[in-house]
Amino acid sequence: MRHLISPLDFTTEELDRLFDLAASIEREPGRYAHVCEGRILATCFYEPSTRTRLSFESAMIRLGGRVLGFSDAGSSSAAKGESVADTIQVISCYADICAMRHPKEGAATVAAGKSRIPVINAGDGGHHHPTQTLTDLLTIRNLKGRLEHFTIGLCGDLKFGRTVHSLIHALVRYPGIRFLFISPEELRIPDYITEMLREKDIPFEEVIRLDDVLPQLDLLYMTRVQKERFFNEEDYVRLKDFYILTPEKMKLAREDMLVLHPLPRVNEIDVEVDHDPRAAYFRQAQYGVYVRMALIMTLLGLAD
Ligand code: CP
Repeated sequence: MRHLISPLDFTTEELDRLFDLAASIEREPGRYAHVCEGRILATCFYEPSTRTRLSFESAMIRLGGRVLGFSDAGSSSAAKGESVADTIQVISCYADICAMRHPKEGAATVAAGKSRIPVINAGDGGHHHPTQTLTDLLTIRNLKGRLEHFTIGLCGDLKFGRTVHSLIHALVRYPGIRFLFISPEELRIPDYITEMLREKDIPFEEVIRLDDVLPQLDLLYMTRVQKERFFNEEDYVRLKDFYILTPEKMKLAREDMLVLHPLPRVNEIDVEVDHDPRAAYFRQAQYGVYVRMALIMTLLGLAD
């Protein structure tokens, strides 16, 4: 039995097979419409979500399976004090696979240790969000035609941003990647990540101003300043609009630069940018369904 807890749980060869399967699902969805008949996905979300939970549910339904779960810790027995370890042992009686989101780092690892069904980490605190990374990689592969040799700017909340942390861990396995970390001082990328990049001799720079580096980028990965990760309102208010990508700023970028964003967006991308053909974030959300369909099939042993 396999779980997906970290973006490194799959080798790059396994990822290639997963992305090929996702591409096949996109081309011929009818071929996969019954592969999960009789199977049940549990979505256990202790934190809010739109994309991740609903794309998992959409993925399972499109594969012919069914879904159950909760979207709010307050409506589950967590509100009565039940532990994640106990909950997953019970969910193992009701479902064949579980996608779990939790505000605490390491919750999915704890769940996997007690589970009798595959566990998918759908985001654990500020730690990892591996299925967002699968979505991001599939988007880059489909729209850029490759997963190597590019300069990527990651902009916004690089301190708490689990999508950023997971994506960096995944991208360092591909050759020729250069990172530009664009953040205010208070939301800098954590030291353990820059130390890892130094050890692997992977080029990176940390900057504060987006405009200075925009012309160099093949990909711009925007992120939201996450109100829920701040300890005080004052810091959040001071930093929330630090970056706003506008059509005017997009004039500084290359013609073929792509703008990605895991979403939800608040103010960091002006809605006028949505009309720019380089804005790829809604296509990214669509790829999230195909890649989660491929992942469910793979973890249930149905991919072959
Ligand atoms: N990208 C992402 O995780 O979005 P949700 O929080 O809506 O699931």
